[in-house]
Amino acid sequence: MTDTTLVRDLERTGQDHIVQHLSKLEPSARARLERQLAEFDYDLVARLADIAGQDGPERSVSDFEPAPVLPLSRPPESVRAARQIGAEAIGAGTVAAFVVAGGQGSRLGYDGPKGCYRIGPISGKSLFQVHAEKTLAAARRHGAAIPFYVMTSRTNDAAIRSFFEQNDHFGLGGENVLLCPQRVLPAFDKAGRFILAAPDRVFVSPDGHGGAYHALLAGGALDDMARRGIEHISYVQVDNPLVPTIDPLFIGEHIRAESDMSSKVLEKREPMEKLGVFGYVDGELRVIEYSDMSDDLKRARRHDGSLKYRYGSIAVHVIDRQFARRMAEVDLPFHVARKRIPYVNTEGERIEPKEPNGRKVERFVFDAIPLARNPVVMEVSRADEFAPVKNAEGDDSPATCRAALMARDRRRLARAGIVAPDDVAVEISPLFDLNADHLAEAGLSDLSGRDRIYLE
Ligand code: UTP
Repeated sequence: MTDTTLVRDLERTGQDHIVQHLSKLEPSARARLERQLAEFDYDLVARLADIAGQDGPERSVSDFEPAPVLPLSRPPESVRAARQIGAEAIGAGTVAAFVVAGGQGSRLGYDGPKGCYRIGPISGKSLFQVHAEKTLAAARRHGAAIPFYVMTSRTNDAAIRSFFEQNDHFGLGGENVLLCPQRVLPAFDKAGRFILAAPDRVFVSPDGHGGAYHALLAGGALDDMARRGIEHISYVQVDNPLVPTIDPLFIGEHIRAESDMSSKVLEKREPMEKLGVFGYVDGELRVIEYSDMSDDLKRARRHDGSLKYRYGSIAVHVIDRQFARRMAEVDLPFHVARKRIPYVNTEGERIEPKEPNGRKVERFVFDAIPLARNPVVMEVSRADEFAPVKNAEGDDSPATCRAALMARDRRRLARAGIVAPDDVAVEISPLFDLNADHLAEAGLSDLSGRDRIYLE
């Protein structure tokens, strides 16, 4: 017999189909499903089922004022001063790296956590290794420990944990790496009912990157940071290996402005590029998702012909530690995404839907921005900072990402006086200190006959 409290919770939240299903299951499968069901917070389920059941776009916005942006070209003395402030904060050990890697990576279709995907164009290093080594290099450069926090989810936490252990935490030291699993939430059909992923399991998915605040708190990262004297959290996404995990200039701008949460943007490739935009809606600075803007709005131009919503968000932030703690306790909004979710029907057959049949609910990390003091929005260069791995092929794929990584390293070599021909593959390890002595040791004076340059 299923526990009466659980039955009552299921019934009051419209999950009668699950109560009926439970009664038909054999005891061990029923026990497994009951265990999972008992973990849900049914007041939250009631709320989410209601949100998921609502039709129509969430919140489409009309004309709004774009946010002021610190442009890429700004006075060199101001840049130098900000970089200095950032470097001092890093050197004083007050900055942590935080990589969010709890997503499902469904578009990439890789069998395993996305962070384990081998992206290094020559080395085949994983996304995690690239982020870890950038952080280790920054720690060496600034002479301070930089702890490395990773958001995982229940589905990939064990695999990520063993990946870090097998790889000796990529040299960061196990004591400097902390994984924080995010919460999962059930998905719903359009009537607000749970979806069965298997006869003994309800479909759940991670609660969105906005689950990061709670994950940092529940995973003990915020306490760990307080113990270590960390004040600033440098937030990056695991699928963008080009971005620095620790950027003295960005951290410096954030500190100088006394900001709670700062963000990086870049010039959109074209008006329809699928990036969120920073702007003022109802007097609040927030990120407006591309799906909430009409095509006309995306194409809007100013009198001088320039694109009105010129800058797109790349989901890179610096977050004040104490602000993150506050956000862990704030009820940030939930957003609904319509997805195709394979399920089992009442006969126990597995169905692969052709159309979106389910609604996932998620929180977004940037929904904290309206609550942040002095939010900074800073422009960066796409070529230096943004090459996400989202899709298996085409735009934002491993191929475009590797090309961007190689192009960046080719530019770094060229600045050091070595011009590699286009048909020579180039990769510079984040741990390679690109100075004249090291370059001389690498023996790159004659490149003839070489098809690759790999500096480790
Ligand atoms: P995306 O939603 O763009 O990518 O998340 P994804 O979840 O990896 O892949 P798809 O959408 O299923 O194809 C952007 C970043 O936010 C993290 C992801 O790991 C990625 O680094 N993220 C996303 C989380 O950590 N948790 C989430 O619940 C969602």
